[in-house]
Amino acid sequence: MSQYQFLLWEVKGGIAYLTINRPDKLNALNFALLDELRDAVRTIYDDESVKAAILRGAGDKAFVAGADIAEFIKVNEFNGRKIAENGQEIMTMIENCPKPILAAINGFALGGGCELALACHIRVASTNAKLGLPEVTLGIIPGYGGTQRLTHLVGKGRAFELIMTGDMISAEEAWRMGIVNHITEPGATVSKCEEILSKILMRAPVAIGQVVETVNAAFNETKDGFQVEANSFAICAHTHDFKEGTQAFLEKRKPQFNGK
Ligand code: COA
Repeated sequence: MSQYQFLLWEVKGGIAYLTINRPDKLNALNFALLDELRDAVRTIYDDESVKAAILRGAGDKAFVAGADIAEFIKVNEFNGRKIAENGQEIMTMIENCPKPILAAINGFALGGGCELALACHIRVASTNAKLGLPEVTLGIIPGYGGTQRLTHLVGKGRAFELIMTGDMISAEEAWRMGIVNHITEPGATVSKCEEILSKILMRAPVAIGQVVETVNAAFNETKDGFQVEANSFAICAHTHDFKEGTQAFLEKRKPQFNGK
């Protein structure tokens, strides 16, 4: 994976550690970085040795401070839609990934960086993290799914206020609003993610993938979430892991799931 210019990729114990690596620019997302991110996310889907991923930013100042504003000056009415759709597609790939992807937010998560964190399944922020969607201060709006995902998480009124003011909020406020799941001391976000994953990775992988499918269906108006749930339940019922899980319970032992 050394082909990446702006990402670091390492797999340890089934967890892919994906680091956005442009610390001198607070890990701002330029277009080349987004291409690399798409490739890395595809690898999370495809590589059987990868069971989960943790996304983080290099350095101790930022997760990601947004889309690269220096590049954004090239955005115009002709390419704007394509640029937003490209970013949305990558974020949606993360959101729909059947393997858990956690964001370790170690500082600024602004604009596209906040949208990237919002696309992850679970967010852990350090006490010094700052989150926000400041796009209106630049004359645009969030275009990588932030208007939708923030609204889903916090409701309309709070989403309007955060997006219209462009305010940055503290980790504490983000936790109170339900944007982040946990707050840790600086430097401890990744270990908190690992602690959460240590539980998730003991569960049946097919069931975890179906949790992603069904919870996401609750926010997809084109889908009947209850129908999706029933289908997902049937998919799980068909697995070896379901037989193993129930049998292990009855035999009072720990299940040995194999993801089949
Ligand atoms: N795009 C491009 N470059 C960025 C960037 C972004 N989103 N965010 C930070 N940088 C660059 C700065 O230009 C600076 O580069 P330089 O050293 O070559 O001048 C470097 O990262 C450090 O940032 P700096 O602004 O000096 O740090 P700071 O601690 O004073 O301020 C922020 C931190 C996050 C408050 C500030 O960088 C900021 O407001 N960034 C933009 C946030 C934003 O609007 N994001 C949404 C984009 S759609």
